[in-house]
Amino acid sequence: MSAESAGHSRREFIGSAAPAVAAGALGLGAVPRVFGSLSAPDRIRVGLIGCGGRGTGAAAQALDADPGVVIWALADAFQDRIDSCLEGLMQHTAKDRVQVPKDRQFAGIDVADRLLAEVDVVLLCSPPVFRPAQLAKAVAAGRHVFCEKPMCVDGPGYRSVMESARIARERRLALVSGFCWRYSSPERALFGEILSGRAGDVIGVECTYLTSPLGVRTRKPEWSDLDLQLRNWQHFTWLSGDHIVEQAVHSVDKMAWAMGGRMPVSCYGVGSRFTREEVPERGDVYDNFAILYEYADGPRNTLMCRQQPNCFNDNTDHITLSRGYAFINGWGPTLWIRNPKGNPVWSWSSDAEVPNMYQVEHDELFRSIRAGRPINDGAWMANSCLMAIMGRMAAYTGLKVTWEDARDSDESMLPADWSPSPRPVPPVPKPGVAPPQPSGS
Ligand SMILES: NC(=O)c1ccc[n+]([C@@H]2O[C@H](COP(=O)([O-])OP(=O)(O)OC[C@H]3O[C@@H](n4cnc5c(N)ncnc54)[C@H](O)[C@@H]3O)[C@@H](O)[C@H]2O)c1
Repeated sequence: MSAESAGHSRREFIGSAAPAVAAGALGLGAVPRVFGSLSAPDRIRVGLIGCGGRGTGAAAQALDADPGVVIWALADAFQDRIDSCLEGLMQHTAKDRVQVPKDRQFAGIDVADRLLAEVDVVLLCSPPVFRPAQLAKAVAAGRHVFCEKPMCVDGPGYRSVMESARIARERRLALVSGFCWRYSSPERALFGEILSGRAGDVIGVECTYLTSPLGVRTRKPEWSDLDLQLRNWQHFTWLSGDHIVEQAVHSVDKMAWAMGGRMPVSCYGVGSRFTREEVPERGDVYDNFAILYEYADGPRNTLMCRQQPNCFNDNTDHITLSRGYAFINGWGPTLWIRNPKGNPVWSWSSDAEVPNMYQVEHDELFRSIRAGRPINDGAWMANSCLMAIMGRMAAYTGLKVTWEDARDSDESMLPADWSPSPRPVPPVPKPGVAPPQPSGS
């Protein structure tokens, strides 16, 4: 871990994640550039925070999206991740537009300000617990944002993201989410058909995200406990929100999409940890959840998600309509709507060319910036995250959790202190006996 990573307090992160009141008091340097008035070849300086797999991919997609994009600055908790990201980007055909000298490489867990001072657009791709603070800083600084999912992992983070989304709208800054299926042509067509009402009202939605466990990064002798947790962030609830928030939030978001953005009033459910090896790298996350979401007007939607080895895998959404039934396979191009007799009324043709949804996110982001008509995904993306968070709260506690319980919760996942070691793995929550959500320490 770099020296810059040590010695941070939760107050710093919470303070910076809190409503970005500083926005109104910003100096000239923070005034957003209006790209709508610029011609296409003009340079757009892009910075990336979180130089892992997704971040490196997002930077490459930004390069492909607009000929004016220059990858201008990189930030990560660890210098070796910046190095490997840079190495990857230098394989890109547009490597001449990757211009990141040493003085625009920022290593540390709280270096967002330094990167934001250098760029026009920022790609937020670090572990999600850091996202609300980074987003608040980005909009306060007048930067356009690509924001990976999940955008928050707790109630305070949700409220911060909602406020940042409001500020982005007010300041005409683009805020594009990493909910990639929202940028996928087949899903857009199918959800458009559902929301048109032609197949009737939505009666209920069932979603699955059943998959294998993610890998771990084995401890190296020189790592502190904090390094181990940051390197294995997906396995720690304080960093990732658990896999219901980190991964299955995609399915939750499709549930929210099918419901036309209506949010549940409450939820309850089950979850546990059976199959994870009890090694520090495997952290404290559960390996399965099943949540039932209740809506004010009647529907009861279900989400089932699992990360267990050697089991049946499935990532599908089943939507019951008053005049039919819709099916979506998230991992394949099978999407259809049938009438109650089982006859097809709509289907996505698998022969049609489907643009890469990750690329479309960036194509639309930069087009919207250039056109001066910034996309703002803020409110719906935050709501989908809170739905997943309330599911986790319900499973961890064994209680019924209302939307307000989750929204107004003061339980922060950010650790109270950031000392590198000792930092034991938090205990795995037990429903009925361990109501508090675990934080880093
Ligand atoms: N939309 C999708 O389909 C999709 C797919 C994969 C990942 N993701 C999301 O993208 C994000 C990154 O995932 P990934 O797979 O690239 O993980 P990763 O581990 O490969 O990369 C994360 C990087 O962030 C760095 N990091 C840790 N703390 C940081 C901090 N405080 N500031 C800056 N950098 C920090 C890590 O060192 C690491 O290099 C996650 O939120 C994940 O859920 C989305």
